[in-house]
Amino acid sequence: MMPTTMQARCVFLGAPGAGKGTQAKRVAGMVDIAHISTGDMLREEGKSGSELGMEAKTYMDAGKLVPDQLIIDMVKSRIQKPDAASAWILDGFPRTLPQAEALDQNLSNDNALTHVISFAVPEAVLMGRLTGRRTCARCGAIWHIAHKPPAKAGICDNCGGELTQRSDDREEAIGKRLEVYRTQTAPLLAYYRDRGVLKEIDADRSPDIVFQELLTQMQ
Ligand code: AP5
Repeated sequence: MMPTTMQARCVFLGAPGAGKGTQAKRVAGMVDIAHISTGDMLREEGKSGSELGMEAKTYMDAGKLVPDQLIIDMVKSRIQKPDAASAWILDGFPRTLPQAEALDQNLSNDNALTHVISFAVPEAVLMGRLTGRRTCARCGAIWHIAHKPPAKAGICDNCGGELTQRSDDREEAIGKRLEVYRTQTAPLLAYYRDRGVLKEIDADRSPDIVFQELLTQMQ
């Protein structure tokens, strides 16, 4: 039986398509924990047409990271909100060493990181996961045309919304995102391993098995 509260303050780390968003949504659907996805926040900004959203979109569509300071400021203010007072999952942040250092500086002893979960998936698997991903434009549910197809093609089972493909899930942008992960984000594994908070999960298994292991690791 799952507890309805979880005093975890976690970073989900992993390459594009590793399953961070899928698993974070599932945890947040079961327990009272804020799911903070920097990618989702930036996409919302893009939809709203804000200056920040327009600037970020040019980086995102090219598969590049948006500038550190922009993301750091966004996460700092998000983490102050009441729903993130005691428990949160940071999905997609930090992604560079300056972002990790800024997060450390922003957290006090009372709200320090409790876990960093690394989702390990071979690079050869990631391209298929990303090109086949479809996302509900209404509720944000994540589907896959082969691994997790909806009952009716193009329609979300949960809410009937239209399923769309992310503009950065094109092969060219995916190649760049994987390169950016290798060069700028993967060094964070050593950063967190040295701090004794890193837990590694083999995420090249079924979503249900990954979820069970994740819950064990987050205890
Ligand atoms: P973001 O939205 O964070 O994208 P990402 O990190 O590239 O990760 P994804 O969302 O692509 O993958 P995921 O691991 O969540 O996989 P998912 O669960 O969807 O960032 C987008 C962009 O925003 C960045 O490129 C950058 O420009 C910008 N950005 C964001 N944060 C930033 C930051 N901190 N600094 C600077 N820039 C930033 O799963 C993928 C697919 O696989 C789905 O179809 C799913 O159904 C399927 N799947 C999941 N698990 C499994 C499984 N176990 N088996 C089979 N299929 C599975």
